[in-house]
Amino acid sequence: MFVGHFPSYRPRRNRYDNATRRLVAENSLHIDNLIWPIFIIEGTQTETDIASMPGVQRVTLDRLAHYVEPAACLGIPALALFPVTPPHKRDEHGTEATNPDNLMCCAARLLKKEFPEIALIGDVALDPYTLHGHDGIIENGYVVNDASAAVLAQQAVNQAQAGIDIIAPSDMMDGRIGFIRKALDTHGLINTRILSYAVKYASAFYGPFRDALGSHTFLKGDKKTYQMDPANSREALREVAMDIEEGADMVMVKPGMPYLDVLWRVHETFGVPTFAYQVSGEYAMLSAAIHKGWLAREQTILESLLSFRRAGAQGVLTYFALEAARLLRQELGS
Ligand code: PBG
Repeated sequence: MFVGHFPSYRPRRNRYDNATRRLVAENSLHIDNLIWPIFIIEGTQTETDIASMPGVQRVTLDRLAHYVEPAACLGIPALALFPVTPPHKRDEHGTEATNPDNLMCCAARLLKKEFPEIALIGDVALDPYTLHGHDGIIENGYVVNDASAAVLAQQAVNQAQAGIDIIAPSDMMDGRIGFIRKALDTHGLINTRILSYAVKYASAFYGPFRDALGSHTFLKGDKKTYQMDPANSREALREVAMDIEEGADMVMVKPGMPYLDVLWRVHETFGVPTFAYQVSGEYAMLSAAIHKGWLAREQTILESLLSFRRAGAQGVLTYFALEAARLLRQELGS
């Protein structure tokens, strides 16, 4: 690569003014790259705060349309829905997951009617519905694979029939993408897309999310027998290859910032639509430092999201989505 000799090559020339910096920018962040995760909760007339995720709330169905309205106005393309299930609806097998009138399905029907242009992403896993807080069914102390995948397939069909556009299995059972694709096709749901949480690590960064769902009080043990070991990245490529083979339309790497190297490898190797999840712990970490006045709010949020784009992400699931969209809109207007 020719870089020239000082002083004919001066990299700072291309940083001279804002217009030039914009012209030579290699990557960009746009509202189209944002996916907003939303927690839904039973009951009426309440939005409850989540202590470890300041600014994020659990929303009841009667308030949901109002809550989502600003995202629709800003043109955020997709929402990722996560249900908070009360303890009395949880059981050992996560039966509520396959109830066609569960909170997730009701929310999907409601949002699809109010905002048909927004893509709805449905989380498929059993942890919001089980008493033990694991993503699958437990037999003899072990999360069993194929029996869990069969339930997940039924959960996916119900969600798709209720209006979920993109099924997002976050459970990490082997072969579940194939199971789910087959079940969707059998039910004539051939256009329902699958966004696989293909590379999901057994991470400490999910702590605040488990607070949000209330599953931290339930979870027994850890998820290391199904979620990936943070030590591995070649294995991530095998996971992605498998999910594409089984019919995933898009894949995800999760968590985000601590795994940008993995994101880059997946993007470079496969070139399929690849998403990153800036998870709850990353949100908590940034929010806390911002709150302390140790980091500048707007710049930090946008820089953290742009880093995912640079590392190859098509888009980012982020609890900052609404705020980032507002900031990006302002930038355009200014
Ligand atoms: C569970 C699920 C988790 C997240 C999304 N789906 C947590 C877990 O695996 O325990 C984490 C998201 C976040 O931390 O923001 N199926």
